[in-house]
Amino acid sequence: MPSQPSRRRVILDTDLSMGAVGSEIDDGFALALALATPELDVELVTTVNGNTDVESAGLLTLALLERLGRTDVPVVGGAAAPLARPGDVRRAPQALRDEHGHRALSPGYAAAEMARVVTASPGEVTVVAIGPLTNVALAAVLDPAFAGAVAEVVVMGGSFLRHTNELAMPGEFNVWVDPEAADAVLRSGARLRFVGLDVTTQVRLTSADAARLEASGRPFASFAGRCTAAWIEHRAATGSSGAEDGACAMHDPLAVAVVARPELVTWAPARVEVVTGPSVARGVCVADLLRGAERPEPNCEVAVAVDAPAFTEHFLGAVEAL
Ligand code: BDR
Ligand code: CA
Repeated sequence: MPSQPSRRRVILDTDLSMGAVGSEIDDGFALALALATPELDVELVTTVNGNTDVESAGLLTLALLERLGRTDVPVVGGAAAPLARPGDVRRAPQALRDEHGHRALSPGYAAAEMARVVTASPGEVTVVAIGPLTNVALAAVLDPAFAGAVAEVVVMGGSFLRHTNELAMPGEFNVWVDPEAADAVLRSGARLRFVGLDVTTQVRLTSADAARLEASGRPFASFAGRCTAAWIEHRAATGSSGAEDGACAMHDPLAVAVVARPELVTWAPARVEVVTGPSVARGVCVADLLRGAERPEPNCEVAVAVDAPAFTEHFLGAVEAL
């Protein structure tokens, strides 16, 4: 019998909020896409404070895995606040606890579990980080072998070719929430690929896509279609930037997609540094794309272009069947 090509072992680190009405949906789609991609083997999900508090992220992840028929995937809770702001802890709303509180996470802490799984199999496990980088930074600090052992860390985060043009949030959200963690990860020596806002804002789900998913009659797709419509409505009602076209970006699913399909994106080696500490530019990434006369040592690759139609076909093809 021909041997099966080996699948990429993946840890997904997420601040998932799909399922809470009017909340960001892309982490939920990213989890679904990872589970639906035959080349990927999701063996652990870890949660982090970000889009939502870490308690809600854990409960909503467990609920989504149940919906996807994958309660076998362990979910371990992680950082409740950014590295430099340990007091900034939010709790899950009571209504969410009432609905989902009967579910239980697996024991342990995300960073420790991430470090344990990665270092047990050097070169085999990819971490896909789709929330603030707090857990990944802690894993690198906890175990000095982590950075050398991880196959790569694929991050949805940063903006490398342009600014957000918003003083209130000058950097991309995931890096802006915990710039000290992003800085630690960039200095860790791990192999890093960043999929930033420059490309993720080009891959979009429209209201028509949402309606199509909802009408599919498939258990995940119809639920996700409803969540998408609610998220698009919420963004329009709150005047969010980028909501003008009645669509929303699939930031995190693109980071998952490139693990199995790196050709969806054009990559450039870069030296990326993050503005930390008190500054008007806190959380901003400065990327040197090694094109000048003086070329610093690269510390990652960044996505500089995306084949949006090819991504959408890959993405919708996978999630519509769920
Ligand atoms: C990132 O921030 C979150 O809102 C999304 O889930 C994504 O991970 C985009 O800036
Ligand atoms: Ca996210």
